[in-house]
Amino acid sequence: MEWGMANRMAQLIQADGHAMFLPIDHGYFQGPTRKLEQPKKTLEPLLPYADAVFVTRGVLRSSVDPENSRPIILRVSGGTSVVGRDLADEGITTSMEEAIRLNACAVGISIFVGSDYERQSLLNLARLVDEGEKYGIPVMAVTAVGKEMEKREARYLALASRIAAELGARVVKSYYCEDGFEKVTAGCPVPVVMAGGPKVDTELQVFEFVYDGMQKGAIGVNLGRNIWQNDHPVAVAKGIRAVVHDNATPQQAQWIFEAEKAAT
Ligand code: 5RP
Repeated sequence: MEWGMANRMAQLIQADGHAMFLPIDHGYFQGPTRKLEQPKKTLEPLLPYADAVFVTRGVLRSSVDPENSRPIILRVSGGTSVVGRDLADEGITTSMEEAIRLNACAVGISIFVGSDYERQSLLNLARLVDEGEKYGIPVMAVTAVGKEMEKREARYLALASRIAAELGARVVKSYYCEDGFEKVTAGCPVPVVMAGGPKVDTELQVFEFVYDGMQKGAIGVNLGRNIWQNDHPVAVAKGIRAVVHDNATPQQAQWIFEAEKAAT
């Protein structure tokens, strides 16, 4: 691996082989999502707990202090919205030149396997990988399901994750699933990070699925709403960080959460 690529990968994936990415990119198709209405306000207290932040160029420029940042994974796909015809009809929104100008550590793109736009999104990924490899910039592929949340099961996630890796993604973001998640990670020859999806009911449920996913081979998380839509985002972030980097159990993470919550 070239030095630039190796250095960027090392900024993303920590020395313990694990990673905690913080996505605040949801506005690119959801608009002012709940608790992300003012991205700067959401992000600032969470920054110390993130190994990298997943963000569009617009929010990066407007809401992230260049003098106090973390490695940036730049969201470079989009062009659709929740009220539009089909979320899967994405294109590449941001050039590699712009990613370099913004000093991105990686770029991220969604793929929509099984959708009407499967081919388009996969060729977008392949083209992005070609560009990224030229400049030593890793690509994170986001296996997206659009509004079809029922696709979040092992067979589908394993298929989508493997295809992303085959096309050259250096990191794959997959949803977690309780049954058979180990098949998703085992079938994907590059590191897998887990997204959370819509907020679940309790913090303990988050700690439990993150812990289980890590036991089943994920290297970490790219977890958004289950952190920043919680009433105590820093406390959740601390708990998750302990699971990801210190191998804390869900119960230990819950104690960390409770202690932080009591202290604030
Ligand atoms: C949104 C994304 C998010 O980065 C990803 O889904 C993680 O966020 P969450 O944990 O809230 O699902 O790709 O397009």
